[in-house]
Amino acid sequence: MTVQFVTNEKVAETSSKGNQEKWQDSGRWYKLDQFGYEGLAETVISRLLERSSMETDTPFRFVRYRMERMHVHGRDRNGCSSADFLRPGESIITLSHLFKREGHALRDVLARLPSDKKRIAWLAEETAALTGLALFPQYLTLLFEVDALFLNDDRHLNNIAVLEKDGRFDYCPIFDNGAGLLSNVQIAPMEIDPAALIRSAKARPFNTTFNRQVIHARNLYGRQLHIEAFSEEALRRALEEPLSYYAQRDRGLIADRVCQTILTRQKEPKSRK
Ligand SMILES: Nc1ncnc2c1ncn2[C@@H]1O[C@H](COP(=O)(O)OP(=O)(O)O)[C@@H](O)[C@H]1O
Ligand SMILES: [Mg+2]
Repeated sequence: MTVQFVTNEKVAETSSKGNQEKWQDSGRWYKLDQFGYEGLAETVISRLLERSSMETDTPFRFVRYRMERMHVHGRDRNGCSSADFLRPGESIITLSHLFKREGHALRDVLARLPSDKKRIAWLAEETAALTGLALFPQYLTLLFEVDALFLNDDRHLNNIAVLEKDGRFDYCPIFDNGAGLLSNVQIAPMEIDPAALIRSAKARPFNTTFNRQVIHARNLYGRQLHIEAFSEEALRRALEEPLSYYAQRDRGLIADRVCQTILTRQKEPKSRK
């Protein structure tokens, strides 16, 4: 079924509202594929995260995405949607906004610190102090683990957030994994060997390797993500429905890239307790 937006009112494309064009309609947020197969990446990652014990073992949650076909700009386009995760009276405050509001020159503070480990610790603990969210360091570690597993290289400070209601804070469900799984085919062209793309990807927000970012965070705050390794067969099964939205000629290549990414990344980083 193709979604037709009633209002046709696009959510403002401000930087804090992300890059992908998006619409809000009947309690759901819709985002349009921009540089490749972001909708598939969001959908597959959230389905695979269902197999983790995140929501039973930790107070943290993640956003569920599903594929959508949307009629926009006079054409049927692919994207994904998610239920609005804000409860009445709640707003989302991205870390970028939070630190600006507190008058912190975040970039300068982080640049002055001597190592990635110190930068991670500062961001984790300063956010915990500003919000009173004592487990924010664990939450940040979990985010980095999810990004490292799915190769999401877009965890900038507008994709990390907290929720606020009447001056009280809460953890934001993990959102926006759409840059994972090599979905941006402009940055990661289809004709380049995925192994090379996987090797050269850089983790945000600290612009280091995915392994280093995770190892530092885990050494500081412990492992947070518990998820069994996926078999290639399980991955291919999870891909079937989302793939059906994409052109027949691209399906095989997308499936191979996604499988190779997760099968490679789940072996890393070598366990270090
Ligand atoms: N399900 C949702 N519930 C509430 N707010 C949302 C939801 N999805 C997106 N948003 C809002 O849109 C912003 C950008 O969403 P994001 O998924 O990061 O988009 P992009 O992929 O374009 O960066 C979020 O910071 C949040 O303010
Ligand atoms: Mg975003």
